[in-house]
Amino acid sequence: MVSEITHELKLHKIGIYEHATEEEKQTLDDLQVDSFIKYYKSYQHSVNDPEGFWAQIAETFTWRKKWDKIVEYDWETPKFEWFKGAKLNITENCLDRHLDKRGDDLAIIWEPNDPNEANRTFTYRELHAEVSKFSNVLKNNGVEKGDRVCVYMPMVPELAIAVLACARIGAVHSVVFAGFSSVALSTRINDAECKVILTTDGVYRGSKAVDLKGIVDEALESTPSIETSIVLNRINANITMKAGRDIWWHEELAKVSDICPAEEMDAEDMLFILYTSGSTGKPKGMVHTCAGYMIHTAYSFKNVFQYKHGDVYFCTADIGWITGHSYIVYGPLAAGATTLMFEGIPSYPDYGRFWEIVEKHQVNQFYTAPTAIRALAAQPNELIDKHDISSIKVLGTVGEPINEEAWHWYDEKIGKQKSPIVDTWWQTETGGIMISPLAGVTPTKPTFATRPLPGIQPCLVNENGEELNTNPAEGRLCVKYPWPSMARTIYGDHNRYKETYFTAFSGKYFTGDGSFRDLEGNYRITGRVDDVVIVSGHNLGTAPIENVINEHSNVVESAIVGYPHDIKGNALYAYVIVYETPENDDFLRHEINDLIARTIGPIAKLDKIQFVPGLPKTRSGKIMRRILRKIAENETSNLGDISTLLNPDVVQAIMDGSLVK
Ligand code: WTA
Repeated sequence: MVSEITHELKLHKIGIYEHATEEEKQTLDDLQVDSFIKYYKSYQHSVNDPEGFWAQIAETFTWRKKWDKIVEYDWETPKFEWFKGAKLNITENCLDRHLDKRGDDLAIIWEPNDPNEANRTFTYRELHAEVSKFSNVLKNNGVEKGDRVCVYMPMVPELAIAVLACARIGAVHSVVFAGFSSVALSTRINDAECKVILTTDGVYRGSKAVDLKGIVDEALESTPSIETSIVLNRINANITMKAGRDIWWHEELAKVSDICPAEEMDAEDMLFILYTSGSTGKPKGMVHTCAGYMIHTAYSFKNVFQYKHGDVYFCTADIGWITGHSYIVYGPLAAGATTLMFEGIPSYPDYGRFWEIVEKHQVNQFYTAPTAIRALAAQPNELIDKHDISSIKVLGTVGEPINEEAWHWYDEKIGKQKSPIVDTWWQTETGGIMISPLAGVTPTKPTFATRPLPGIQPCLVNENGEELNTNPAEGRLCVKYPWPSMARTIYGDHNRYKETYFTAFSGKYFTGDGSFRDLEGNYRITGRVDDVVIVSGHNLGTAPIENVINEHSNVVESAIVGYPHDIKGNALYAYVIVYETPENDDFLRHEINDLIARTIGPIAKLDKIQFVPGLPKTRSGKIMRRILRKIAENETSNLGDISTLLNPDVVQAIMDGSLVK
């Protein structure tokens, strides 16, 4: 390994970038940001010389041909190109390049829904063979570079294999979460004009088996682009295979070899499409490309979680979401890590399941969402205490702001106050983590995502688009310099991409989130700015008020929406889930308002508080405020499509108040 100074010099030759030679090649381990001073230096480097910074990281990967230019961008079009001219295949970086040194290390540990079923493991060598085989299956079925493949599967290893196989042959995967309805599925298939769908006969979810193939059959009635459906037998369900369209996964595998050279891809070729819901309209197919996505997911994975070889890393997300794409599959595998995939749910056979898995596989990094943390915190302590979870070194959270109570519970009960919590802020659109502590390296602060990762330049702006340069500050969160893993477009609708993210504030990416920055420069995400309610002329973010309500010892979770009020313009309506039915509802209402008045101010007091059995949530755990707003406004005749909700039944219960405690 070359000395740091020679390497730096090489990267800074004025005007021309010279690539490192093989002998000089560093690894992601060499570049690990493992002290605060290294964080500080890397950050400064990344701001003063973004191209040199990213070049140094990119040099650690395997390329068929290196880039001519690190970044070229134009905020107006908008167009962003990273590592222009480079050629690569992401699976050569996730698999092939590890075979020499780490071929026998575990790449994937798979834990089934039923704890009595055997778990499955794949070394890097085995995974490489499985991915190559399935790549050949896809090719045999006419899938070519650039074709879109829909992947609608539960959390079985074949899902990860399928995703990587697409990437290996240059096909574009569009994973649709296997909890979505047939309508949601067909909309997504049609938007991307997928040629093939990969699915299973069914899904185990806790004690239930769900008929996945039936949903697919319904969806495929209105998807003219689909030619073939490749079906994995997961639950031995009695299904009908449609002749000429449906074929069995295992029968196809029997026909192929385990050698499949990877397709050479351009740095900016499409890697995948992943749908995310907008505040209005149809879902947005966010497009991610090969090189930049690979580099940022691997680098951020390694540094945020401070992953060391031999560690076992467990992210509880589903691969149907961006967290699963970036931090179960691509980031960990590109970094040569052992990643654990879990098929089941946190409550089966009981709420101790995550801790059982942690103990069984000696998990070192555990990454989940605040909504799961709150659900787990509501359970008896014995469910944790009966497991030895001392292997945990790092805890992570993602997806929504974490309230203080949940943060402390996670820290004390799970982390035993020795495991740093990385509160990772990012989005489907950003591809990878943007703002987060680096575990044990940079300080944590409850409810704060803290500092940007090296290479990421966030900023706050006011409504007039002026950047707020002093601390503390509160405003809209933007990013003012491109980063490699940013989504490049919305599939088939570049104009919507421009309108949604690049029009509000010129020369910046607008995240749609609000944020507070403290005196030290730590960012706290306050929630979507579209959830702001203006009460008596005051802007009130719903998330900070919810955080306060959630601090009440009898509150599990809450959601606030605005509703029209004669005098104030808008008033606040809170839906609150409680642990125990209060003896006196009004007394609890009074206590909650008192808490809000004390913590935020009387202006944020709630006009209505309804105790509810649950909150309508999307499959990714986000509260569907649109529905709650309609109920609060008494406009329940037109609730829109609620079929994709996690818990559609709760909507009726809230409306008729029958289950109101
Ligand atoms: C929210 C998930 C607070 C935020 C990776 C963002 C968060 C949206 C955090 C993206 C966090 C995500 N703290 N809020 N640590 N992480 N969010 O696309 O509002 O499913 O804009 O990506 O989730 O959700 P998405």
